[in-house]
Amino acid sequence: MAGKEFTLVLVESQQIAPAVKHLTFCREDREAVCFIPGQFITLYIPTAEKVLRRSYSIANRSHEASDRIEFAASYVPDGTASDLLFTMQVGDTVVAAGPFGRLILKDEQPMRYILVATGTGVTPYRTMLSELAKRFEQRPCFEVILLFGVRQPQDLLYRDEFTEFAKKNPWFTFRAYYSRFHLETPLLLYEYMGYVLAAFSDIDPNPQHDIVYLCGNPNMVDEVFSLLVNSHGFPSDIIRREKYISSN
Ligand SMILES: Cc1cc2nc3c(=O)[nH]c(=O)nc-3n(C[C@H](O)[C@H](O)[C@H](O)COP(=O)(O)OP(=O)(O)OC[C@H]3O[C@@H](n4cnc5c(N)ncnc54)[C@H](O)[C@@H]3O)c2cc1C
Ligand SMILES: NC(=O)c1ccc[n+]([C@@H]2O[C@H](COP(=O)([O-])OP(=O)(O)OC[C@H]3O[C@@H](n4cnc5c(N)ncnc54)[C@H](OP(=O)(O)O)[C@@H]3O)[C@@H](O)[C@H]2O)c1
Repeated sequence: MAGKEFTLVLVESQQIAPAVKHLTFCREDREAVCFIPGQFITLYIPTAEKVLRRSYSIANRSHEASDRIEFAASYVPDGTASDLLFTMQVGDTVVAAGPFGRLILKDEQPMRYILVATGTGVTPYRTMLSELAKRFEQRPCFEVILLFGVRQPQDLLYRDEFTEFAKKNPWFTFRAYYSRFHLETPLLLYEYMGYVLAAFSDIDPNPQHDIVYLCGNPNMVDEVFSLLVNSHGFPSDIIRREKYISSN
C-alpha cells in the first residue's frame, strides 16, 4: 500500500500551541492506514501553477492500523500548505500519498536511544513511544532520552504526555530546551535553557551504546550530526535524520 494516493477528510483540528495545529484526518475510503512509527505522509496541494508536495510526520499515539491519520502542522508565515491547513474546515479533503520515510525504529538493540527534536519534529517520537514501551517489556535493559527544543514553554507540544510517560517509565527521560524564554519562574526538573545541542555536554554520547534520531529544524539536524560525527566518533549509519524543509 506504501506510496498509493488516497483522499483524507479532516475530522478534527485542534490548536495545541500558539503556532501549531494537531490535525486528525480519516481516509475517505475508510481503509486502514498502515505505517511504521516515524514515517510521514505527503500532501498534494493544488496551486494555480502546479501541485505542490508537502510532507508531515504521522503523529498518531500508536501505530495500530486505523483509518485515522494525525499530524501536527506548524504555521509558516505565507506558506502555501500552512495557509491551507490552518483554514481547513471539518469535512474538507486533501489528497495524500505514503507512508514514506526512514526515520524508523529498526530491529536493533542499543543500550540507549537518543531522540532529538525541535518543534513539530517531536511527533515521530510521540508515535514511537508505544513501540519502545513494547520493546522494553521484552528487553528491559535500555534507556530512551528525548531532547525537545522549542522557543518557549507554550510551544512544548504534548508536554503532559511526555512528562507522564517519564513518571511511569523510569527508563525514559524527557528534557525540554527553551531558546527564547525569559526566566520568570524557576525551571522545572525537565526544563533547560538554550538549544538541544547543549545536552550533549552532559549526556555522554557514545557510539558503542547509542542510536540517535534527529528531526525538525535543518540547522539543528546538521549541527548535532556534525558534533556527533566529528567530536564523538559516531559513524553516520547510527544517526537517523529528517529535516523539515519544503520541496518545490
Ligand atoms: C519528511 C518531512 C516531514 C515533515 N513533517 C512536518 C510536520 O510533521 N509538521 C510540520 O509542520 N512540517 C513538517 N515538514 C515541513 C512541511 O513539509 C512544510 O515544509 C512546511 O509546512 C512549510 O510548507 P508551506 O507550504 O506552508 O511553506 P512554503 O510555501 O514552502 O514556504 C514559505 C516560506 O517559508 C520558508 N519556510 C518553509 N518552511 C519553513 C520552516 N519550517 N521554517 C521557516 N521557514 C520556512 C520558505 O523558504 C518560504 O520562504 C516536514 C518536511 C519534511 C521534508
Ligand atoms: N513557534 C512559534 O512560536 C512560531 C510563531 C510564529 C511563526 N513560526 C514559524 O513557524 C515555522 C516553524 O517554527 P517552529 O518553531 O516550529 O520551528 P523552528 O523555527 O525550526 O524552531 C524550533 C526550535 O528550534 C530552534 N533552533 C533553531 N536553530 C537551531 C539550531 N541550529 N540548533 C538547535 N535548535 C535550533 C529554534 O530556536 P530559535 O528560533 O530561537 O533560534 C526553536 O527553539 C517558522 O517559519 C517560524 O518562523 C513559529
